[in-house]
Amino acid sequence: MSEALDREVIIRVRDLVVGFGDKLVMKGLDLDVYKGEVLGFVGGSGTGKSVLTRTILGLVRKRSGRIEMFGSDIDRISVKARALIERRIGVMFQQGALFSGLTVKQNVQVPMREHLTLSPRLMDELALLKIELVGLPRDAAEKYPSELSGGMIKRAALARALALDPELVFLDEPTSGLDPIGAAEFDDLIATLQKTLGLTVFMVTHDLDSLYAICDRIAALADGKVIAAGPLPTMLASPHPWLRAYFHGKRARQLLGDATLAEAVR
Ligand SMILES: Nc1ncnc2c1ncn2[C@@H]1O[C@H](COP(=O)(O)OP(=O)(O)O)[C@@H](O)[C@H]1O
Ligand SMILES: [Mg+2]
Repeated sequence: MSEALDREVIIRVRDLVVGFGDKLVMKGLDLDVYKGEVLGFVGGSGTGKSVLTRTILGLVRKRSGRIEMFGSDIDRISVKARALIERRIGVMFQQGALFSGLTVKQNVQVPMREHLTLSPRLMDELALLKIELVGLPRDAAEKYPSELSGGMIKRAALARALALDPELVFLDEPTSGLDPIGAAEFDDLIATLQKTLGLTVFMVTHDLDSLYAICDRIAALADGKVIAAGPLPTMLASPHPWLRAYFHGKRARQLLGDATLAEAVR
């Protein structure tokens, strides 16, 4: 706990309420994301993981509550200060969400065009650097998303998320749709980039392997709130029914073994 108190908070969400019509999706949600950590964000399908991500990013309107990023309340800063914060953030949306009419290189350059003024030549060089950084071959740069495999699309989307050399990266189900080997490779890539680039990562995931392999802490969403947050052992020991079903199901037992789970609960 004392370690947590010492750490710099990059995202602080307090008492967040978000809804559509008369349906509330966030009902007073609190969340902290610490500098330099990989936070895995879990929750049942349709509980609001993507909505939370989009609300933090300012793409969905909140009803009430406070969202701070890099120490600034995002509702109380100027448009200019807000743009500077956006430059420090990279996003990989669910499904990759590349522009189908643009090549990989052009996709990676979208955030550059939005936020920077660079010569075409420099933008080409930077885009190629990002493309290589995520393990794509150089010739992928001129390809369109429809010409790429699922794994390559994910890598291209990650390259675009890293276009502005962000400090904070949002990944919404980055390994969904990949086979287990492709997902494990992508987890390795995220872990390597996170360490070498010193990133803070907010990662929505359903993938238990990813949680075990690369997340420092896990936060779980149910009924519009974060019901538990902490390192894996804390989550395993939680009595919450959803967490127990999630972390003590067949797949979890295969990954962790019954002994580890029994240990955690004791
Ligand atoms: N733009 C929208 N208008 C109305 N309802 C929405 C909108 N976006 C999301 N929702 C609803 O909010 C809930 C949470 O969705 P989402 O965040 O996508 O779930 P998930 O946890 O699977 O990412 C769902 O019930 C979804 O139907
Ligand atoms: Mg989602």
